[in-house]
Amino acid sequence: MIRWGILSTARIAQRIVEGARLSESAKIVAVGSRDLTRAQAYADEHGIERVHGSYEDLLADPEVDAVYIPLPNSMHVPWTVTALEAGKHVLCEKPLSRDPAQVELAFDAAERAGRVLMEAFMWRFHPQTDELVRLVRSGAVGDVRLVRTAFGFGGIDPDNVRLQSSLEGGALMDVGCYCVSALRLLCGEPERVSGEQVLGGDGVDIRFAGTLRFAGDVVATFDCGMDVHRRHSIEVVGSDGTILVPSPWQTPSGTEILVTREDTERIVPETVDPYARELDEVAAAIAEGRSARLGRDESLGQARVIAALYRSAADGVSVVP
Ligand SMILES: NC(=O)c1ccc[n+]([C@@H]2O[C@H](COP(=O)([O-])OP(=O)(O)OC[C@H]3O[C@@H](n4cnc5c(N)ncnc54)[C@H](OP(=O)(O)O)[C@@H]3O)[C@@H](O)[C@H]2O)c1
Repeated sequence: MIRWGILSTARIAQRIVEGARLSESAKIVAVGSRDLTRAQAYADEHGIERVHGSYEDLLADPEVDAVYIPLPNSMHVPWTVTALEAGKHVLCEKPLSRDPAQVELAFDAAERAGRVLMEAFMWRFHPQTDELVRLVRSGAVGDVRLVRTAFGFGGIDPDNVRLQSSLEGGALMDVGCYCVSALRLLCGEPERVSGEQVLGGDGVDIRFAGTLRFAGDVVATFDCGMDVHRRHSIEVVGSDGTILVPSPWQTPSGTEILVTREDTERIVPETVDPYARELDEVAAAIAEGRSARLGRDESLGQARVIAALYRSAADGVSVVP
């Protein structure tokens, strides 16, 4: 049983609290906030035993084995490194960083400390994702020609961390990183990328669209946005058919994969809580003394592509990651 602390009272931490209830490996034992009253209210609401009025105090708590870090993006690597140096294992929210050098720094710190570090891409732990990969690799729609993916939403408050450039907000960082994760999972590392962004907030990308070219003449596109109607999808276009995943990221029960050749087949994957699964993966990595399934190479690949996309959008040229 891994005793977890939560670093902050972030909205998303609710899903980890719920995931831990379904997990046999995780117990949330502590929460730390910049504000002790906020931490106490959070602990009371979620039945968490231990409360700290600073992140430093949480990291000094000997009853905590591992921490979940759902801070604003710019704080991911600094607090990950601090937590690892305090001897805690770390599950850090996505994106770990948009800077490959920062990713190296974080995993170097994990290696030095002999602790597990994983970037929290929960969608990778849903059986639907495994089934999509299995379908693509087994040639269910022939050779892959095109992949299209999207993640967008709207109705964001003006003071949301996602709209602040100093906290490394932006649509690509917030939700486009899932599209990048999916394209890399299905197609490998891109040979070349290009991006277009529309700025909003205090200068972050409020919308971003990208094109990625992969080996074997596979071309992929994605779009993401924080001022658009809800958009969630992955579509794989093959030589012999298409695969459509209408809910690839958030996976409500009954979520399905549509495989169309002559007819359309509906595949309904097992319903699980991917947040529980990512907690279990960190626990398994700790128990087995190995890296977690999403390790250094995975986070580095993500950061390289995100950095290249931002460079492309800024300079108006295509970029080799
Ligand atoms: N995997 C997923 O499904 C998923 C979903 C949503 C978000 N996320 C990721 O989770 C992270 C947090 O997102 P969120 O929407 O939950 O954020 P949020 O509700 O705004 O929470 C961020 C927390 O960070 C702390 N914080 C420290 N410095 C801050 C600052 N300068 N400004 C604002 N907050 C600060 C605050 O906690 P205290 O005041 O208690 O210290 C705050 O509650 C992001 O990296 C995001 O990409 C992941």
